[in-house]
Amino acid sequence: MKQEKILKFPKDFLWGVSTSAYQIEGGIRNDWSEWEKSEIRSKKLKVKGKNPNDFICGRACDSYNRYEEDLDLVKDLGCGAYRMGIEWARIEPEEGKFNMEEIEHYRQVLQEAKRRDLKIVLTLWHWTNPTWLVNQGGWANKKTIDYYLRYAELIVQELGEYVDFWITLNEPMVPLANGYLTGKFPPNKKLNIFQAIKTFTNLIQAHKKVYDSIHKTLPKAQVSITKIINSFEPARKWFLVETFFSWLANYCANDLFLQRIKSKIDFIGFDYYFHSRVIWYPPFKKNINKKVTDIGWEIYPEGIYQILKNLNKYNKPIYVMENGLADAEDKERLDFIANHLKYIHQAIKEGVDVKSYFYWSLLDNFEWAEGWAPKFGLYEVDRKSFKRTPRPSVKVYKDICKNNRIKITN
Ligand code: BGC
Repeated sequence: MKQEKILKFPKDFLWGVSTSAYQIEGGIRNDWSEWEKSEIRSKKLKVKGKNPNDFICGRACDSYNRYEEDLDLVKDLGCGAYRMGIEWARIEPEEGKFNMEEIEHYRQVLQEAKRRDLKIVLTLWHWTNPTWLVNQGGWANKKTIDYYLRYAELIVQELGEYVDFWITLNEPMVPLANGYLTGKFPPNKKLNIFQAIKTFTNLIQAHKKVYDSIHKTLPKAQVSITKIINSFEPARKWFLVETFFSWLANYCANDLFLQRIKSKIDFIGFDYYFHSRVIWYPPFKKNINKKVTDIGWEIYPEGIYQILKNLNKYNKPIYVMENGLADAEDKERLDFIANHLKYIHQAIKEGVDVKSYFYWSLLDNFEWAEGWAPKFGLYEVDRKSFKRTPRPSVKVYKDICKNNRIKITN
């Protein structure tokens, strides 16, 4: 007979939901908005039989205007925290000219969050850039480090009092790989190894500088990046070549960046989505895919456990800052969340210092190169009226957050 089991989380465990500025706010002009509208992008989509309009962020979820409603949803979920972003292009639309009205806008958002007693995780950079910056070479240009520092310092000075956790960079390796190697993201470069390396070095320097600067102003601040960490394993453990490739992939994709900044992070911000069974020949991956999300990503909850155990070597508290799936029908979401949490619970029981779980995402948002089709939201968003409608999972996630526990059946 199946038995129900209750797994309690530690007393101060933080429950939350994550979003990013560009994906929900709407009405932003930056390098992504320009790329979406570019002819080359339209052409590429049309060749694939896709409608370019489904890949325009536009008004997004209109959260720029509906932030109070969104914050109410977060509060109603029983979350103690909300992860949100600031859009650099709003703050500094022209080089060196800062828009103080936009600072005031974010001040209001943050004040409203605080009025609802939410802890704030603030992401300073979630892949998008002001157009003037990109015209100067973007992140491949060394000067960007100081531009970014100047922008970050202003935010810290103006809005620092509301922030509980700082994320300087969201998943820096993702735009680096997609922008300079695969060409899926702006600046749409393919296999530009030279610029990719420069970007890598500059992102590291930028994080380190901003880390020091935040600590100078706010000595007790909690500062880190979010790092997407993939679960790699050799398809055949006995096959040395695949074991080596799996190790190499893990080192390059997961460890390299963290190793370089580990003395300048107060915690690890960890995002989990992917598992790869590594094979020795292209495409170097052969998953079993018993279950996949709407966009074909394998659902592999045990991967989060393996990664958490491995991250323990950094000796820092670990905050799960993103985990979620595209599931328009909400068929897998409940099990997805419960199973990942089961493994997180197991890691905690075995001594890993996991402090949080943030579901990605609160809303159906703009999913970058995939456009509007993937539905990651706990809340469905109508593309015309922007009405938010809870998916059935909301009820269960609420129960989890409010009671600090999950129920599983064995
Ligand atoms: C990113 C989000 C994105 C999500 C789902 C994460 O890697 O931070 O911006 O929407 O994955 O693809």
